[in-house]
Amino acid sequence: MKIFQYDTIDSTNNEAKRLMQQGENPSFAVYARQQTAGRGRLGRPWETPLGNVAVTMTVMPPEELSTQSTIAPLTALAIYDVLKPLIRADDQLAIKWPNDILINEAKVSGTLIEADRSAIYIGVGINVETKPEHVPYKTICLSELTEVKADQLVKDLAVAFEKHHTRWQKEGFEAITALYNKRLYRLNMPLRISLDREKQTWEEGICCGVNRFGHLQLKDDKGQIKAHSAGDIDAPLEH
Ligand code: BTN
Repeated sequence: MKIFQYDTIDSTNNEAKRLMQQGENPSFAVYARQQTAGRGRLGRPWETPLGNVAVTMTVMPPEELSTQSTIAPLTALAIYDVLKPLIRADDQLAIKWPNDILINEAKVSGTLIEADRSAIYIGVGINVETKPEHVPYKTICLSELTEVKADQLVKDLAVAFEKHHTRWQKEGFEAITALYNKRLYRLNMPLRISLDREKQTWEEGICCGVNRFGHLQLKDDKGQIKAHSAGDIDAPLEH
């Protein structure tokens, strides 16, 4: 995958959209060593100081629009593959649905996926040298565990993403659903999912992994399974 590289940019997702408008063709990636206006999910800001990874993989939208929701889990698998060899065997690496990556229950990576008619923009942030401190969840950066450079991570991620993306195009998400579920945070354990943006309402259940659309399935205490297409997940509160 061709990689456009910048020292500083507002947001790699924004730059990928600008490159598309200028006639660039997918697939390509935009990598910046620093972002000044990085964006996270649900309109939150995302910091990328020097030394961390901000990269946007840009691909053609799938012909079958209903499969677009499975780009998130396939991306998480690629990030997981790249991080796994870098950490010790007793450090817990897991995918927090849909595509956050956790090490020892602390967030090391997040993904913002945006789309228009001509492309899907898969923006990945990885805490390499530093981690955000003032956020309402635990965070970790790779430098606490290992020595790795952002430039190398980006190259490895582009390769891992292309591998999973090609398989997904040929065989569908079904081919990698089981692998994704195996790596899921709190699989077969109680979990709660927020039903609104303000996180005032939650639903609890046992995590049964994702279905073929990448939607998260929770089993309630009557044994009914419900699939959720959106929401933030968390361990349940102690009763
Ligand atoms: C999240 O967990 O809220 C998602 C964070 C996504 C951040 C990445 S960094 C590269 C790309 N450019 C952006 O502006 N955002 C994404």
